[in-house]
Amino acid sequence: MRDSRIGFGLLGAGLIAPFHARALQASALTELIAVADLDPRRLERMTTTFGCQGYGSLEALLEDPAIDVVSVITPNHLHHAAVLQAAAAGKHVLIEKPPAMSLAEVDSMAAACKEARVKACVTVQCRTRQAVQAMRAAIESGRFGRIYHADAYMKWFRSAEYYQSDAWRVSRRSGAGVTINQAFHYVDLLQYLVGPAKAVQARMNNLAHLDIDLEDTLLAFVDYECGAQGVVQASTALWPGTDVRIEINGENGTAIMSGERMDTWRFRDERPEDAGIRQFGSPSAATGATGAADLGIQDHQAVIEDLAKAILTGGEPMITLETVRPTLEWSLAMYLSAKLGTVVTLPLQDEAAVW
Ligand SMILES: NC(=O)c1ccc[n+]([C@@H]2O[C@H](COP(=O)([O-])OP(=O)(O)OC[C@H]3O[C@@H](n4cnc5c(N)ncnc54)[C@H](O)[C@@H]3O)[C@@H](O)[C@H]2O)c1
Repeated sequence: MRDSRIGFGLLGAGLIAPFHARALQASALTELIAVADLDPRRLERMTTTFGCQGYGSLEALLEDPAIDVVSVITPNHLHHAAVLQAAAAGKHVLIEKPPAMSLAEVDSMAAACKEARVKACVTVQCRTRQAVQAMRAAIESGRFGRIYHADAYMKWFRSAEYYQSDAWRVSRRSGAGVTINQAFHYVDLLQYLVGPAKAVQARMNNLAHLDIDLEDTLLAFVDYECGAQGVVQASTALWPGTDVRIEINGENGTAIMSGERMDTWRFRDERPEDAGIRQFGSPSAATGATGAADLGIQDHQAVIEDLAKAILTGGEPMITLETVRPTLEWSLAMYLSAKLGTVVTLPLQDEAAVW
């Protein structure tokens, strides 16, 4: 920590790194100290653009005393080992989604952070949207009544070039399929709002990226523990890509978020604040529909600032590993269901069978 700002070091100088860097530099609570990457060209691009220190390895990053938090923004299958190493060095961790590739890995990451007394926070940044928070408050206060349906529709597009840009982007074991990679955010929102899931049935196929051995499309039914049912539809095959819709239907109301804006907010008991809630979100905000870099920084900044405040006050961040674990479990259950062609009930009995 320098001054009273929390110092961050980024592990990974790839596609998402500039979004983290811009969010860190936009906040009065945080400072971008350094970036580390094995690829010198990517590293140099980040250090010259953002005027920060560059390191060639995680080990070197961990030796920098100005770094309080390591942001683990490497490919999905590499998060686990990096988090264990950072925690052992006494650094807090911000982990990109999905936090890891198995529940066993998530549990060992949480245990390592607890033992080292460092905080762990996951970047499922859509939770911070005003529209999501309004839906959550209405659900918690019982305003919807019984919830009947909770659905996510993610009709996105990712080009062939996106998939071919790196070996990990075409590897199932690296978490490159649409279910665990892109749809993770929206399964997370359903889990956060209405979950946990009790049973899932999924079908996966490849519609538009036939040269790679990955699902680019997911169709799934879900039964929630609370009695609601839902649908998850997610694809990166659907050009040009349109805003995600999250839809909640209860006996007393319906809410629909498109992208980050509240499209529909109707309750039998209309209240004075409802008119303002209908204005939440911006129609021009980029939320990932048409390409991986089609993003704003405001949601990342909210997660980063929440973690910085938790460190400064000794509290817990809003998005812990424990609160994201059920999202990973649901995602893994969908893979198992698609593989076996059956309904899979949760808790997941045999995660070794998934991959
Ligand atoms: N939250 C979001 O909206 C969002 C959006 C995009 C990506 N992501 C996540 O961010 C992470 C990174 O994705 P990306 O698209 O930036 O990937 P990327 O491949 O563009 O970048 C990853 C970088 O990590 C580096 N790297 C790999 N192993 C390393 C090691 N051992 N030490 C140092 N550097 C190493 C690579 O050289 C590469 O530059 C993934 O987990 C992805 O799912 C999240």
